[in-house]
Amino acid sequence: MNKYLLAIETSCDDTSVALLKPQGEVAVLQAANQDFVHRVFGGVVPEIASRNHALHLPPMINEVLKSSNIGWNQIESIAVTNRPGLIGSLIVGTVVAKTLAQVHNIPFIGVNHLEGHILAPLLRDAQWAPPAGFGFPFLALAVSGGHTSIYRVEDWGKYFVLGRTRDDAAGEAFDKFGKMLGLGFPGGAEVDRLAQNGDPSAYQFPHGLTHEKNLMMSFSGMKSSAQRLVEKLGAEQIQSKRSDLCASFQEAVVDTLIEKLDRAVTQEKLQRVIITGGVSANSRLRSKAESWANRRGLQLVIPPLRYCTDNAAMIGLAGQWRMTKGQRSGLDLAPMASSAPGDFIEEIK
Ligand code: KG4
Ligand code: ZN
Repeated sequence: MNKYLLAIETSCDDTSVALLKPQGEVAVLQAANQDFVHRVFGGVVPEIASRNHALHLPPMINEVLKSSNIGWNQIESIAVTNRPGLIGSLIVGTVVAKTLAQVHNIPFIGVNHLEGHILAPLLRDAQWAPPAGFGFPFLALAVSGGHTSIYRVEDWGKYFVLGRTRDDAAGEAFDKFGKMLGLGFPGGAEVDRLAQNGDPSAYQFPHGLTHEKNLMMSFSGMKSSAQRLVEKLGAEQIQSKRSDLCASFQEAVVDTLIEKLDRAVTQEKLQRVIITGGVSANSRLRSKAESWANRRGLQLVIPPLRYCTDNAAMIGLAGQWRMTKGQRSGLDLAPMASSAPGDFIEEIK
């Protein structure tokens, strides 16, 4: 009888459940985003996010088990995101995980959401496996609506933060820019779509800290500059220049990310790089990162989007290796808004 790990992710506004077989093999992954609920407010409303998790998580777990014909006697462990994230959202996942662990008498473990993101390329399923030759150590750019950081991933559990944004996350910058243009929430994908027909050199936006000889980033300067430009242009011009505006703004974000990744590769002398998080869906980031990696002779891995956006499979993988090492959480496991001391080693220059 096959045994599975049940994984739960509810750190922001995506409710996700996965079942993993040993060695990071994903048997089932379900994820439901709440974009349509938060769209009217122009951003994620924490209270609404947690209520929706409470509503959707229990039936999603039942559905995943039922549809795959897997009984509780086949679940040998549970992994759940308990940090960092929106506290109300994290409470729902951790309470559900603890309850199920108690009721079914199975061990469980709390996982750092960002550890999930940086391990995501190591997941496997019928369509995806990490490419030949890929493994530790590697550089990871985690870039989403909530985070933008560069890590050196030395081994399971050995993660060094080399740089991060000082202010907004790159996805947040895309979303705020989208809002300025009236594109709805989250605006990242729409900016990407409109940019396809635009001229990336039509407008100049400042790059984020590329003059600093370290791996720190910033996206608030380009956002303020966009705000000033949008006010100057006025509604009619914005409408007619939308594609150029999107292409130019996108270029500033993408170039900032790639310039910092380039510096990281030189500094760390590593040949393997991954990009993960929701912004890795950006078509310009993908194509520019691929040409950059080819030029520099690097192995670049961008996992499939289902493992890049917030998902429970990556949490399952992080929990699985920790369980293999004998780690367990107790019923005192608390949700935490920030990472725990020791999750990452700071190595920011
Ligand atoms: O990882 P994710 O699903 O959730 C978290 O933020 O944790 O990432 C969502 C972010 C949003 O900011 C969204 O606008 C951005 O990823 N995003 C994109 C694209 N698709 C999603 N940004 C730029 N281009 C895209 N194609
Ligand atoms: Zn995330």
